Amino acid sequence: VIDNGLEGWLRYSALPAVFSNTQRRYSSIIVLNKDETSPVYTAGKELQDGLKRILGQHVDIDFVLTGSPTSIVVGTLGAFSSAGGDTQDIPALKEDGFWLQTDAANDCVHIIGQNERGAIYGAFEYLMRLAQGNFTPVASANNPSASIRWVNQWDNLDGSIERGYAGPSIFFKDGEVVKDMTRISQFARLLSSIRINAVVINNVNANPKLFSETNLNGLRRIADAMRPWGVRIGISLYFDSPKEFGGLPTSDPLDPAVNDWWKKITAKVYENVHDLVGYTIKANSEGQPGPLTYKRTLADGANMFARALKPHGDGVVMYRAFVYNHHLDESVWKHDRANAAVDFFKDLDGFFEDNVIVQIKWGPIDFQVREPPSPLLANLRKTKAAIEFQVAQEYLGQQSHFVYMAPLWREILDYDMRIDGKDSHIRDIVSGERLGWSRSGYTAVLNIGSDTTWIGNHLSMSNMYAYGRIAWDPLSDPVSMIQDWARLTFGLHKIIVDTITKISMESWPTYENYSGNLGIQTLCDIIYTHYGPSPGSQDGNGWGQWTRANAHSIGMDRTVATGSGNSGQYPPEIAAMYENIETTPDNLLLWFHHVPYTHRLKSGKTVIQHFYDAHYEGATNAQSFLVEWAKLKGLIDDHRFDHVAFKLEYQAGHALVWRDSVNYFYFAKCGIPDEKNRVGNH
Ligand code: GCU
Repeated sequence: VIDNGLEGWLRYSALPAVFSNTQRRYSSIIVLNKDETSPVYTAGKELQDGLKRILGQHVDIDFVLTGSPTSIVVGTLGAFSSAGGDTQDIPALKEDGFWLQTDAANDCVHIIGQNERGAIYGAFEYLMRLAQGNFTPVASANNPSASIRWVNQWDNLDGSIERGYAGPSIFFKDGEVVKDMTRISQFARLLSSIRINAVVINNVNANPKLFSETNLNGLRRIADAMRPWGVRIGISLYFDSPKEFGGLPTSDPLDPAVNDWWKKITAKVYENVHDLVGYTIKANSEGQPGPLTYKRTLADGANMFARALKPHGDGVVMYRAFVYNHHLDESVWKHDRANAAVDFFKDLDGFFEDNVIVQIKWGPIDFQVREPPSPLLANLRKTKAAIEFQVAQEYLGQQSHFVYMAPLWREILDYDMRIDGKDSHIRDIVSGERLGWSRSGYTAVLNIGSDTTWIGNHLSMSNMYAYGRIAWDPLSDPVSMIQDWARLTFGLHKIIVDTITKISMESWPTYENYSGNLGIQTLCDIIYTHYGPSPGSQDGNGWGQWTRANAHSIGMDRTVATGSGNSGQYPPEIAAMYENIETTPDNLLLWFHHVPYTHRLKSGKTVIQHFYDAHYEGATNAQSFLVEWAKLKGLIDDHRFDHVAFKLEYQAGHALVWRDSVNYFYFAKCGIPDEKNRVGNH
């Protein structure tokens, strides 16, 4: 049987014989909800299927709580207690949380969700433990760090996906929602297993034709297909819809007719999707219209959508902070795209309706290989925020290179912003704990497509898995996550787990080394593809991803004293660190400072020599991934082995292209040869 990857980490492979002595004898799975569309019912079916595949055991489903000592009970806390279940031991659970308890023999199992989603999350948790041969008794309450744990798909109605690298959309084709919901339901299963509770299904560069009657009905079908898995849907809106779709003369957010139009269309959406999770808005960004087009504030725009949502439930507006001028004049030393989010949003803090969440990309520019965290994450107090990650490796090799991003995300979430001089780890800001927000959290641009690999590379699925786990618990350890993922996806053999862990943990520093170091950003093509080395494309255009490299010096001066003032957007302790070149870490030196190529780093190397060395180190290490991977030949199925080997071989070759393109580009600029004689006029 060819394993095409479609089940991702939910393959439920039969446990090897060595575990046979730990076989359980479950008498039944007791499902405390008979409604076939409920996530509790789905959880019961999933448990039945999983036990069959993992343990080779058929277990019947029952719907009545019997008190049998060898059954698996799955349901909500409410249903469990009404059925006479003993809830005494169960600690307080948050929304979506669950209680998982097994007895010592591990054949009496309680999976009790705070709500239906919690119940299905608990079922997946139990199955993923079994699938790893883990029979350790457990009694634990599992609660999410934040209530917003979403993903964004950038799917267009024509079936293409912006920055998607895994084939056409599973949602849309030829202007309409697809007919066959099979892949959508399989996608929801994967999302549910990593406790993602919502997906925004269309591109942030949105098309108002999503509101056609056919597509509204399509939204209903998508929501119906995902609901049994506990996954809700949201949609992205095109700001000028009233004008371009509704036939109104304006889309001015303070115009009553425009407000009315949004209220009516929102009511129609809810007629089809009664549990819509909300709207995502990209406005006044990269050519998109928005409130500023009509001389209104960004808050005026966001609040219009917020008010349209309010009568229908708990829907939120995710208003993106990715607002900036992409025709910025580079000749002005003070101009800086990294300043835009704070410039646009800081003064609006507190002016948003309570169901508006500002969605902030983790870095100030755009998902680069390294950035400091966005200063806006430390500048909103009353207005709630969500952090935006990107699983689609747009600037990180687009699934033709493999970069495991959990270490990067952890670095951002662990960062202490020192708001008011107090501990302010970003994970505690986005969880809402630090500033007392009621609703906040996480989203990530995912961009799966209809390839059976979902994302374009079997290894890169680890990023989807890790994102879900980090959004649930931002202290999740990148190493143990990749180990779990490797066991579930490829098998329990130690060589499999160790090899994948090694490649994964080295992948980000390796990619950084050959694609752009010292905080200079990913030196890829900036204008169109965001792929492949093109250090010359960073400057000389309005996009603002500048390096300001000339014959003598390089880097963005973002200091308050002589530069764009960006360092001053951070709280005082952080601002002081970045303002001073001595206290700026080497890995962000060129992000914050403009220095001669001969400037000495803390490591003692010059900037240019560091470039040369790092590009050699990175490219050399990329060769080793293929050698490592070869150890798995015969331990995993050939189909996936070959697929990954092909990708890693390509990456090894392309890393050399990266190395030489970048090194020779800077050699040509500054004329300083490599001390080790690898780069120069030979
Ligand atoms: C990046 C990406 C665009 C996308 C934009 C966004 O710039 O390249 O394709 O539209 O981010 O996040 O809105």
